[in-house]
Amino acid sequence: MAADTIAVDRYGVMGYPVSHSRSPVIHRLFAHQTNQKIQYELLKVAPEKLEQAVRQFQRTGGKGLNVTVPHKTEVCRLVDQLSERASTAGAVNTLAFQDGEIFGDNTDGIGLLRDLVVNRGLTLENANILVLGAGGATRGIVGPLLEMQPRLLLIANRTPRKAEIISDHFARSGPTGFSSFDDIPDEDWHLIINATSAGYKGEIPPYPADAIGDRTLCYDLSYGLKITPFCQWAREHGATEVAMGWGMLVEQAAESFHIWRGVRPDTAPVLKQIAVSA
Ligand code: ATR
Repeated sequence: MAADTIAVDRYGVMGYPVSHSRSPVIHRLFAHQTNQKIQYELLKVAPEKLEQAVRQFQRTGGKGLNVTVPHKTEVCRLVDQLSERASTAGAVNTLAFQDGEIFGDNTDGIGLLRDLVVNRGLTLENANILVLGAGGATRGIVGPLLEMQPRLLLIANRTPRKAEIISDHFARSGPTGFSSFDDIPDEDWHLIINATSAGYKGEIPPYPADAIGDRTLCYDLSYGLKITPFCQWAREHGATEVAMGWGMLVEQAAESFHIWRGVRPDTAPVLKQIAVSA
């Protein structure tokens, strides 16, 4: 085979919209760093075209996909083998195609943990953790957070019933609870995580300002080139430690890269290159 026709393994991210995704840049940096020859594409796929697009990617020899909003739950249906963490989360962000089968995993939770524990040196054992929001993003992170043995993990949501369902679902894995935004118990919160999608819509819900203490890290799963509305809100309400989800983004990508290529890239230089601080 001539050098210019050597087949390169194909990967990509499917979302709708997807043009904002930083995954292509991150995976190209990982590939360069680890000397892996890969191609990574941005794939804009409307919800009604998801199955067709995934099957076509597989049929034409694609090796793996990242799956992002709004497909993370729906794509579970197409998977032949679901990892335990994806099954618990009810959501998939990584697909690997092997021997005609589709393997689905979820690296979001471990990505968040790595950013909090490894990059930021946070101790979650015995910590009080407040998670705002009770959608797919919350489902992906509660299990891994509980594995760190916090003192309490409270899920607060605009619709408390949804928080209750997630809290009940994970009750056997650790000390969970739920509430509305205006009913949050008075605790020394070490970590407040914004897992609502309000920021995408430019909305600022009545987040609980009283929950911010002197040592609270306010962490937004969302990220942007400008400070996100949640981080801005947290700063305005006295938070001294505020972070956007750039670290989680890079760490979940590293975990996907590891699943696909069997090598773990060094995330620190990539994070330094792409992240914007809050
Ligand atoms: P994702 O997959 O990003 O988690 P989702 O499953 O649609 O998206 O969940 C969105 C979460 O953000 C929900 O908890 C939602 O609250 P409700 O359960 O009450 O709908 C929350 N959310 C979105 N916009 C919000 C807003 N303006 N105020 C408060 N909560 C909001």
